[in-house]
Parts: sequence; C-alpha cells; structure tokens
Amino acid sequence: MQTNSDLSIKDFEPLFYEKDIKARIHETAARLDTDYAKKNPTLIAIMKGAIHITSDLSRALTIPHEIEFIQTSSYGQNGMESGQLTLFGLDRLNLQDKDVLLVDDIFDTGKTIVAIKEELLKLNPASLKTLVLLTKNKKRDTQEVPDYSVYTISDRFVIGYGLDYKEQFRGLPDICVKKD
Ligand code: IMP
Ligand code: MG
Repeated sequence: MQTNSDLSIKDFEPLFYEKDIKARIHETAARLDTDYAKKNPTLIAIMKGAIHITSDLSRALTIPHEIEFIQTSSYGQNGMESGQLTLFGLDRLNLQDKDVLLVDDIFDTGKTIVAIKEELLKLNPASLKTLVLLTKNKKRDTQEVPDYSVYTISDRFVIGYGLDYKEQFRGLPDICVKKD
C-alpha cells in the first residue's frame, strides 16, 4: 500500500497549465486595478505558498502597490494535513491606514486566513481583503470566504505554482492534482 511518504510527481496530473494561470491572474489584476484605483494597496504574501502568485500578480497590476510578507508554518504535519499554526513577521509590519490585500495559495479549511486576518485587524488597516489562488469546494466550520479567488477546485490535494508536498514541487509551473 502506498503511504504519503512516497508520493512522487508520477502520482500527480496537471489541473491548470501555466499559460491559463497567467491569463487568469491578469484578469484578477485587472479587477484589482479597478477596485483599488487611486489607492496604493499593500499586498501581503503568506509565505511560502503565495510566492509565485504574488510575484505574477504584482507584475500584472498597473496601479501603485507595495509588497510585504509574513510566514506561517504548521508543525506536526505529514505533508497533506496541517497542524498547529505559527506566524512570523507580523511584528515588523506597519499597516496603519493602509489598504491591505492578504494573498495566499489556497483556501482549504480557512483556518490560516481567519487567524491571520484577526492579527492584521489589530494593526488598524484602512481596509483588509483576501485573495487566494485556489478555493477548495468543501464544507467548513467558518463562514469566511476569500474576497478574490482565481480558481475554485474540488477537495483534492494539489501541488505546484507555490503549493508544496513536504516542501517539494513549489516550483512546478503548472498546478497538478493528486490522482485518485
Ligand atoms: P487552511 O488553513 O486549511 O485554509 O490551509 C491553508 C494552508 O494549507 C495552505 O496555505 C497550504 O499551505 C496548505 N494546503 C491546504 N491544501 C493544500 C493542498 O491541496 N496542497 C498543498 N498545500 C495545501
Ligand atoms: Mg504548505
């Protein structure tokens, strides 16, 4: 029987290709150009998963904007399950009166975004919205939903374009899904 510790690239198949992802990110950037016209939003990338989406989004935006990052790590994970969440880098952020757009790779249980939003609100931003590359279509304990979502997918495990399995595969240009 296969266990999680021996997943390899052969266990995955493409779900979204690089070219399509770029096109969808440009569409999302065009929405942000309109929604944040005459503003100077601060994009906060949740590292490490949001590295590629934040980079591509930033280059597709035509409005002025700033980039910050925070890092999460969850301990006790076996690669496909998340454990206790720890946040790093909040202490050096000055978000007073800023229009903040929190960027993450995937909205799964929603716990990460809910926890980070709670912390960011304490820093008195003028506004706080969330953007994710992927939203999993599933039942959640929280009512929270991302303000912007590039794709909605079924509840399956994905890698690539920032998303990892045990820290591997973040650099895949395509988003790939674990075969059933
Ligand atoms: P949440 O807190 O359950 O919404 O999970 C958010 C974090 O879990 C993401 O930022 C990812 O690091 C990780 N995660 C959730 N689903 C996947 C997946 O399908 N592939 C890779 N990482 C995932
Ligand atoms: Mg991860």
